[in-house]
Amino acid sequence: MNAHEMETLALWRAASPGAVLLDGFHAVKHALRFGAEIRVVLTTDRAAVRALADELAADVGGYIEETAREVSVPFLRELIPRGGPTGVVALARRPEAGPSCEPARTAPIVLLENPRNLGNVGAVVRLAAGFGVAAVLTTGDLDPWHPNVVRGSAGLHFATGVARVDPDALPTGPLFVLDPEGVDLRATEIPDDAILAFGTERHGVSAALRGRADRRVAIPMRPRVSSYNLATSVGMTLFRWSETSANAPT
Ligand SMILES: C[S@@+](CC[C@H](N)C(=O)[O-])C[C@H]1O[C@@H](n2cnc3c(N)ncnc32)[C@H](O)[C@@H]1O
Repeated sequence: MNAHEMETLALWRAASPGAVLLDGFHAVKHALRFGAEIRVVLTTDRAAVRALADELAADVGGYIEETAREVSVPFLRELIPRGGPTGVVALARRPEAGPSCEPARTAPIVLLENPRNLGNVGAVVRLAAGFGVAAVLTTGDLDPWHPNVVRGSAGLHFATGVARVDPDALPTGPLFVLDPEGVDLRATEIPDDAILAFGTERHGVSAALRGRADRRVAIPMRPRVSSYNLATSVGMTLFRWSETSANAPT
């Protein structure tokens, strides 16, 4: 290892405690756009970063290009063995405070009950960011800031609130539980202060959460199809909210 790489490794290690790994140009771009505090950026190819910046991120691409430390492909592979193809990684400070979840919020909260699939949770965070959702809350032992969840969200964790919560201490607001046995989503108006709850991938919504529902809502399906994918269900539900809310993105 040469002196530049030793210095880079020391910087990376110093920046790691309490940090979120951003893997890929797009993750770094999104995180920067939504106010992440970036501690260190590495790239294997500054010219490629410049091309991506020119093409896709005139607003923050220059910052990425200027601050990135250039390292070799083997060095980066050693540091992040399963890193993405753009050869850009960064560490950002993980927010210490959870989302505020004010009762008078202008967009729903998405609640995932004990999700198991990291990619699903990342996809939900990405949807939540796109629709301007107040927060994505999870129950259970999965860390919603796990690097593979952040990879799935393309760095959009910084565009919404993301936190794990105690199922017995949910924010206030009408609880809409998504459940194939509920009433048709197309006939349901979703208020801005709703908590939209989705069950775990394998077993669906728990009896406890179902019992607390103010409304149970179903997404239409043909007979013999038992359910939709979790993230897909969140997407359709948020789309339905966006159809009637003045606060949804246009
Ligand atoms: C993969 S599904 C769970 C499937 C599980 N085997 C079950 O029987 O519910 C994950 C979650 O997505 C939501 N979901 C999936 N399909 C749905 C539908 N047609 N209507 C309402 N919610 C649905 C529910 O919240 C469900 O708990």
